[in-house]
Amino acid sequence: MECLSAAGIRAGLKTELIGREIVFHSCVTSTNDEARRLAEAGEPEGSVVVADYQSAGRGRQRRRWQAPLGASLLLSVVFRPSVSPDRVQRLTMTAGLAVVDAIEGETGIRAGLKWPNDIVFQGGKLGGILTEIGLASDHIDYAVVGIGLNVNLDPGSLTGKLMMRATSLSAVLGREVRRLPLLCALLHALDERYCKSFFSGELQHEWTAHLTTLGQPVTVSLPDRVLEGVAEGVNAGGALLVRTAGGQLVPVVAGDVTVSV
Ligand code: BTN
Repeated sequence: MECLSAAGIRAGLKTELIGREIVFHSCVTSTNDEARRLAEAGEPEGSVVVADYQSAGRGRQRRRWQAPLGASLLLSVVFRPSVSPDRVQRLTMTAGLAVVDAIEGETGIRAGLKWPNDIVFQGGKLGGILTEIGLASDHIDYAVVGIGLNVNLDPGSLTGKLMMRATSLSAVLGREVRRLPLLCALLHALDERYCKSFFSGELQHEWTAHLTTLGQPVTVSLPDRVLEGVAEGVNAGGALLVRTAGGQLVPVVAGDVTVSV
């Protein structure tokens, strides 16, 4: 197994903001837990927590996130963006694009994004993003963006009911992929995208261009009902715009989307 370390990651980085502080753990409950702890203790924006294994990795909607020891990239990054809480999805958008950049740069695979937080390739899920926030009255005190990317994982090893078929970079390529250069490429891409386009209209355009969900008939499971329509676009806050059969354009902020073809 390829070993990761804070020193090894630091040595490969030339970033402005992301990775100012790097903490590496062989095993944690969840890198999001560790990053939240750091953020609450006042760690600056750009701090990164990486782990080889999580005993309680989690995904959206309280789902379990599984990754055998050393098989995936598991990391969380602390942000302190000065935007209102309803713009927090822009961090997930920024991170999704950075993951796609890094995968393409390191492996040549052109992955796509599935609304709201999945990294996908040919109908399989390569990774996911979990963004959690800490609020101070009406503004964001910190946001933690957790990224899980299936690198050298045998999709058959995952247990339980999955929302979507899982895949990994090694399963797609038929060979192992080194995690350290991929992680450094990801941190560089995140640094560049966050510093250059988090606040600009470019983010929405680029994310839209990578969304595999658009133009498709979709079924959205909302907490209180099921919505059917065609995914037409996203707004600046990252909400999915679904055109219903009645012609209404409904912005969906949170929910599970399945393509209904
Ligand atoms: C999802 O697809 O629902 C999001 C998955 C996010 C998983 C990553 S792994 C690193 C970080 N720590 C966690 O517990 N979750 C995120």
